[in-house]
Amino acid sequence: MKKIAVLISGGGTNLQSIIDAVEAGKIKGEIRLVISNKEDAYGLERARKHNICAVFDNDEASIIDRLKSEEIDLVVLAGFLKILSSNFTRAFENKIINIHPSLIPAFCGKGYYGLKVHQSAVDYGVKVSGATVHFVDENADTGPIISQETVKVLPDDTAEILQKRVLEVEHRILPMVVSKFCDNKIIVEGRKVFIEE
Ligand code: GRF
Repeated sequence: MKKIAVLISGGGTNLQSIIDAVEAGKIKGEIRLVISNKEDAYGLERARKHNICAVFDNDEASIIDRLKSEEIDLVVLAGFLKILSSNFTRAFENKIINIHPSLIPAFCGKGYYGLKVHQSAVDYGVKVSGATVHFVDENADTGPIISQETVKVLPDDTAEILQKRVLEVEHRILPMVVSKFCDNKIIVEGRKVFIEE
């Protein structure tokens, strides 16, 4: 059983998708810890409702200490709006994953979070967008890509409508990747990542 920590800053619908998959027996791991860098993040409530230890912590050194003392195998950034230092990413190399609501390398990087991502996609006029799960390195959204899935961008889409459509995909691919990670089925070769059946 892998020990999973989920880092959040907000509502935590992606966290919920992992909780649900664990409870349904689809992930061979347990969520040991949920950490939010925002005290009022609703995701903390979601975790507590499922008896998962959930804490507010906005200090990177202290977060690293907590993850180490719990011997965490996988750190999932699920709407965690802080870029990690290289100190953090090196301590957990190829053990931190992030979900981003666009097809990286489009509409990503510093400042691209929340509705801004979807507004940029709508304004640019792209015909497809989607979601990406990737490993985290010390730069924003640049680590090796693990999984991507597309959604259509329709002519009348607003950023809010597109966000909803992309979230459905996020809630599918994030638990899938977590599950594969826990099964040791994710192989990293440089920038290329392979998921075994
Ligand atoms: C999601 O769109 C995720 O891709 C992005 O932040 C949002 C978090 O949503 N990184 P939630 O808190 O999981 O509902």
